Amino acid sequence: MSPEAIADAIADTIAAELAEPGWCVVPNYLDAAETAGLRQECLTAHAKNTFHRAGVGRGTAEIRDEIRGDQVLWIDETTAGPALKTVLSKLEALRLSVNRHLFLGLFDVELHFAVYPSGAGYRRHLDRFQDDDRRTLTVILYLNENWSAADGGLLRFWPNQAEAALEIEPSGGTLVTFLSDRFWHEVAPAQRQRLSLTGWFRRR
Ligand code: OGA
Ligand code: MN
Repeated sequence: MSPEAIADAIADTIAAELAEPGWCVVPNYLDAAETAGLRQECLTAHAKNTFHRAGVGRGTAEIRDEIRGDQVLWIDETTAGPALKTVLSKLEALRLSVNRHLFLGLFDVELHFAVYPSGAGYRRHLDRFQDDDRRTLTVILYLNENWSAADGGLLRFWPNQAEAALEIEPSGGTLVTFLSDRFWHEVAPAQRQRLSLTGWFRRR
């Protein structure tokens, strides 16, 4: 199979999970080389002080340390490096597959690199804004090398509110994706720097 055919097959598998139960965790969605390439592009940009503190809410977002402590850099597709370009084309295959299977009408994606310094987390939240319902599907791709349980930084994810949270390690290459309006989640503080590419497919 060609890389495109493989990407389409993986996208179809993910789309089926998004139909029901509405979320999906895919270890090794990126292979080690893709993950290392993307991590390097993230760290190179971060070293140039291009990141800014992430705010809470839309528009003139406030910086609230007690709610979220990450730094982000919004992705500009026109200046994407080779690793990011590969990932963008895989995510495009996912967008098309989800539209084919779920009729969500996803029409674009907004993505940012996120760097959580040691000790930073993100308190329990939903991704969809109260005053803007375009964010429809969340994608999180972890870029961390050799993550171990002692590093903390787990994503706690509630498949439903009645049950205990799942705890997902932010291991490099893992994709987490879920319908943005439905699932509460939080980032536990990590003992080391924690890297991801995170974004939202939007409808009009
Ligand atoms: C977010 C978020 C989770 C993670 O950026 O909205 O919930 O595991 N990130 O990084
Ligand atoms: Mn979130």
